[in-house]
Amino acid sequence: MSEKKSGAPKHVAIIMDGNGRWAQRRGKPRLYGHHAGARRVRQIVEACPDLGVSHLTIFAFSTENWKRTQTEVAGLMSLFRRYIQREARDLFDAGVRVRFIGDRIKLDEKLVALMDELELMTSGNDKLHLTVALNYGGRDEVARATRRLAHEVAAGRLDPAKVDEQTLARFLDTHVLPDPDLVIRTSGEARISNFLLWQSAYAEYEFIDTLWPDFTPEVFGQVVSRFGARDRRFGGVKV
Ligand code: FPP
Repeated sequence: MSEKKSGAPKHVAIIMDGNGRWAQRRGKPRLYGHHAGARRVRQIVEACPDLGVSHLTIFAFSTENWKRTQTEVAGLMSLFRRYIQREARDLFDAGVRVRFIGDRIKLDEKLVALMDELELMTSGNDKLHLTVALNYGGRDEVARATRRLAHEVAAGRLDPAKVDEQTLARFLDTHVLPDPDLVIRTSGEARISNFLLWQSAYAEYEFIDTLWPDFTPEVFGQVVSRFGARDRRFGGVKV
């Protein structure tokens, strides 16, 4: 056994799954679960600095989530708008810098305006870097990045022979963020559902049975400390 410890994960990414089942078990509509999930987001954000986590990325809405009923999609969009309006001041005061990743083109103008405003308002903060993935899909992100990169090549500003991993990474939505060290998915499903495909190449994964609305800061703390015992080799060998 190696004695080398990983320490706290600098960047944690979370697939917040299980809101619907949490609500169904209580005989409530799915949106009731999303509202409970939003309350949990606040607590997990608050827990990060003390756990040594400087970057948190959360999967709020995927490019595939538009397939849900119109009621659920509209309810989620309205929840995101209200969440930003309600939490902006506290996030700012807590020193959180908020960013959004994903394709904004399909989101309504009012929501995009609130997202832009929150990004600008918190742009001087650095206690915690919170990134919210909204209308985000890993494959979609790589396709959009490739499209932008191809434009640069076509315009003669980029030499195709010089395109390497770093070049492509510069065109991704996450270009200013470190890669995630730890990806957590709640609710017992063991899949990554198109989340941070490129960035998670060397991430550690934790699939937790707890449904997202039950994912307390205590459980989060346990998962984070388990990470500290892992031996990460990034494709190399133990020394
Ligand atoms: C997955 O659970 C959850 C979502 C698609 C939405 C995530 C949104 C929140 C946690 C709400 C608040 C977020 C922010 C940023 C304010 P599911 O609905 O797929 O659950 P199920 O698998 O049990 O049906």
